[in-house]
Amino acid sequence: MSKERKKAGKSDYMTPEDFRKDFPILGKGDYIYFDNAATSQRPTAVVDAIKDFYENSNANPLRGLYDWSVDATERYEHARQVVADFIGAASAEEIIFTRNTTESMNLVAYSYGLSNVNEGDEVVITVMEHHSNILPWQMVCREKKAKLIYLEPDEEGVITEAEYKSKITDKAKIVSIGHVSNVFGITNPVKEIAAYAHEKGATVVMDGAQAAPHIPVNVQELDADFYALSGHKLMAPMGIGVLYGKKAILENMKPFLTGGEMIEYVTREDATYAELPHKFEAGTVNAAGAVGLEAAIKYLQKVGFDFISKQEEKLTVRMMEGMKKLSYIKIYGSSDPKKHSGIVTFTMDGVHPHDISSVLNDDHVCVRAGHHCAQPLMQFIGAGSTARASVYFYNTEEEVDRFLEHLSKVRAVMGYED
Ligand SMILES: Cc1ncc(COP(=O)(O)O)c(C=O)c1O
Repeated sequence: MSKERKKAGKSDYMTPEDFRKDFPILGKGDYIYFDNAATSQRPTAVVDAIKDFYENSNANPLRGLYDWSVDATERYEHARQVVADFIGAASAEEIIFTRNTTESMNLVAYSYGLSNVNEGDEVVITVMEHHSNILPWQMVCREKKAKLIYLEPDEEGVITEAEYKSKITDKAKIVSIGHVSNVFGITNPVKEIAAYAHEKGATVVMDGAQAAPHIPVNVQELDADFYALSGHKLMAPMGIGVLYGKKAILENMKPFLTGGEMIEYVTREDATYAELPHKFEAGTVNAAGAVGLEAAIKYLQKVGFDFISKQEEKLTVRMMEGMKKLSYIKIYGSSDPKKHSGIVTFTMDGVHPHDISSVLNDDHVCVRAGHHCAQPLMQFIGAGSTARASVYFYNTEEEVDRFLEHLSKVRAVMGYED
């Protein structure tokens, strides 16, 4: 037990209560927030970091030579180093700040995809991808007359070795896979897929939007050529995201957006570009967002991935066990709650997911309903839309019990006599 915990009269084990006080919104009313896969909540430490930036260091970073601008630049670049360390990048130059995963994916598609995919080539993704890892590749394949190939999961939501080995061939130029699915919560075998895709000569892109908040990520161990994530899903502000790219690849890529900040020298006719990573960060950057992301990463590291995964597992086991008792509920993905990363996607016989969500909202339970920006997956599982409850480490077993109680009443509210 740490001395601090002993002094505070706390047990050896951390509980969500140790953290909930850091999230003012969680103390407001009796709301149960189970839409963490859409966006997480922000702890005071993150809000304070942003406030501190604007109150004490605000100036346009990377531009001015005076103290405030230098300070803003230093804080922005410090955040970049923290991100690099967090995901195991070899250098901070490999970290590009974007708005979110969607922008990161578009950057790769426009700057790398359009220049490296040619007619007859293949781009391989899975049917489980979020639209932000589908539409950019549809665009590349359409423009370049290449073929978009979909890997499909088995009944447990697993992309098997046989599946990826039969579909990733020498024609594959890009393989772009979600690390953790936002619908099934399953962790895909991205390291194994990357190793195989590299053997075939493909470049590997990973969508880490749902992975980075929940599991340790090391881009070098995974051997990702590109790795994207969104700050807002790991307690940072909205509007700050990350694209990791291997330096050798980024250096050979054209800029995505052009304009201020990303140049070295401009004449009337032409321009040369700034060094990495600034070549990919056109215009005034989101320095406060980066500072907020640094604070979020530090907070997340204080909580620790060990606690995060144990708590998510505990809650998911309880939730799925409770839901299995309701015969009219169908859960999608693995039957093993430990493989859900805190995400439980489900349907209820006779009740539209939007109705599930609104009836639960009447009881102050927040769950997502719809296609979860994964319409090809909805088509694959034969559901127009689904409901999704997603927990994070600050959720409690008591909340799960209340959720189950409310859920068990939804059909009655909709007029069924079970
Ligand atoms: C797996 C996955 N990829 C990408 C995204 C897109 O993230 P953003 O909207 O922050 O760009 C999401 C968001 O829900 C997601 O869950």
